[in-house]
Amino acid sequence: MADLEKIQKKLKKKLDANRYRHTLGVMYTAGALAMRYQENLEDALTAGLLHDCGKYGSVKDQIRLCRKNKLELSAEELKIPALIHAKLGARLAQKKYHIEDQRILDAIRYHTTGRPEMSILDKIIYLADYIEPHRKMIPGLSEIRRLSYIDLDQAVCNCADATLRYLQKAGRFVDPMTQETYAYYRKQQFQKEENKDKFEVPTNVKDIC
Ligand SMILES: [Fe+2]
Ligand SMILES: [Fe+2]
Repeated sequence: MADLEKIQKKLKKKLDANRYRHTLGVMYTAGALAMRYQENLEDALTAGLLHDCGKYGSVKDQIRLCRKNKLELSAEELKIPALIHAKLGARLAQKKYHIEDQRILDAIRYHTTGRPEMSILDKIIYLADYIEPHRKMIPGLSEIRRLSYIDLDQAVCNCADATLRYLQKAGRFVDPMTQETYAYYRKQQFQKEENKDKFEVPTNVKDIC
């Protein structure tokens, strides 16, 4: 079991005040979602606490740290510096914070982009990062907050959609993994809607019953 207090003390020294405040927000939000979806509470708190442990220093520093830790960066990752800290964070969580649970490391690794077929823990950290109380209000945030406690997959779908819209509007490079996440969860939502229609009892049958 991870010593959360010890990790908090270490992180407080590494991260700037805003990042640390966001980190605590993600940790508690991940805890609340874990209670809602019966995920392991300790694992969710640990992943939430460490999700941005690679986000300090300049981008150059982060790239240097990746090299030092023998982490290869793809062309996309180099084009989108925001992606680097997630990969680096998963490695640092293992090496510096002694986290061995692959589920926690994966949730940290994919917290920025999501991925198709996410675990419940992946989804919880992906959403907690987006909805934690200190996030500044952006279009669609209230609805994603509401959905996060009702339908995890629908919330992930809306979150990936909102991220893509934001990147496109800002003229920023759109990473392929976020696109894949959106395509996967959008298709899943379509299939759910189709199945719901198939099994819906026709009105006249309801009348007979
Ligand atoms: Fe992050
Ligand atoms: Fe974050």
